[in-house]
Amino acid sequence: MQTVTEYLESHQTEAIETLKSLLRIPSVSAITAHKPDVRRAAEFVREQLASAGLTTELVETAGHPIVYAEWLKAANAPTALVYGHYDVQPPDPLDKWVTPPFEPDARDGCLWARGATDDKGQMMTHVLSVAAWLKAEGRLPINVKFVIEGEEEVGSENLDKFLAARRDQLRSDIAVISDTSQYAPNIPAITYGLRGILACEIRLHGPKQDLHSGIFGGAITNPANALSRLIASLHDAHGRVQIPDFYDDVLPLSPDERASFGALPFHEADFFASVGVTAGWGEEGFSSTERRWARPTCDVNGLTSGYQGEGPKTIIPSWASAKITCRLVPNQDPHKLLKSLGQFLQQQTPPGCRLEFSEQHGCPGFVADRNSPFMAAANAAIREAFGVAPVMIREGGSIPVVGTLKELLGVDTLLLGWGQNTDNLHSPNEHFSIADFHRGTLASASLWNHIAQRTRS
Ligand code: BES
Ligand code: MN
Ligand code: MN
Repeated sequence: MQTVTEYLESHQTEAIETLKSLLRIPSVSAITAHKPDVRRAAEFVREQLASAGLTTELVETAGHPIVYAEWLKAANAPTALVYGHYDVQPPDPLDKWVTPPFEPDARDGCLWARGATDDKGQMMTHVLSVAAWLKAEGRLPINVKFVIEGEEEVGSENLDKFLAARRDQLRSDIAVISDTSQYAPNIPAITYGLRGILACEIRLHGPKQDLHSGIFGGAITNPANALSRLIASLHDAHGRVQIPDFYDDVLPLSPDERASFGALPFHEADFFASVGVTAGWGEEGFSSTERRWARPTCDVNGLTSGYQGEGPKTIIPSWASAKITCRLVPNQDPHKLLKSLGQFLQQQTPPGCRLEFSEQHGCPGFVADRNSPFMAAANAAIREAFGVAPVMIREGGSIPVVGTLKELLGVDTLLLGWGQNTDNLHSPNEHFSIADFHRGTLASASLWNHIAQRTRS
């Protein structure tokens, strides 16, 4: 391991340059015009893994390609499956970026670019750690398989087919993903739970075209008014979601877990200030942390109707639409609840409007066993690289593959986030701490060692 550490220390500049090259590729999975860029990013990642010494393959799907790579020469040692994604969120709004999203800039100890933390920078820590082992030692202490996909930010719809088709090839003892956050600066974390999600888009169709609101207003249903009522009906005054069977399968939080959330350092006022608000909102009876990590929610993510240009325009818009997602907790079924949500909205659609309901994607929530030898290995690796023990947390975001890996391959995932929630992921001015990039790479290198040691029979 000493040689690996030295190798990493003496190749830090090169590591940053490699990451910058990947960050220059605008691999926005949601936008069709970026399809060739998405493929270029896949090729780049495959090439990195190949030159590290792994056997690689670019796997075609109905959407964007998946990079698969493996190194399986550690006889009688366990196998880790590393998952990551090379696709990124759209960079909009572009005018809010200090430097352009696909021209990575190093300043204030961070790399600034779309995908810096989510997930190119974090994912590359594992590629670089494996490369360092193979360069410095000519071997790895365990076997590794890499699955790096290009559709995470659009719901990973084509990944499941790949995982199902390759079930035997992908057999592993543990999965490792760095696509979450540390708890706070200098408080690294192991994330043992994630929320799931369901996503849909709704559109209310009203009159056949926009109408003069003076001539017609008051006599026909305004789709924008009607959509607002539908959206308002999703919550009651106590912050409870009103979809009829929404809470049926929610597992209550144990007193033990509530206590462990409560013991983490947390200053509510600072938390609100960090996002520029003066007060919070949510389901009554739960703390902000519980609301974010372990309670289901329903949110509008986009809302469109009527005239959006400059100055007034008096119309009854002919349609109104909203993008809606619910975050789910373990044991809730995304597909069942998508149906319930559709029915709930349909029942309340007023006469004079037609509801179009489009299901988008869904994945279940996840909680892992906190006491496995893999958790102990991750704890040791993080202590070694970050100089401090990680805290155990859950997170509110979703990574669809985690549930599939559990269901299909029976493997748990170690979620080892090197980023921060303040890295502006999905927002303008995304960035990733350069020090954490290097520490994450070191922790990854040391993880392979600790997994080998702790699972040796
Ligand atoms: N890396 C995030 C998920 C994340 C970030 C989890 C921070 C916990 C902390 C991932 O890329 C992401 O954005 N996932 C989407 C999933 C969706 C598109 C299916 C999400 O959570 O919105
Ligand atoms: Mn991500
Ligand atoms: Mn993301």
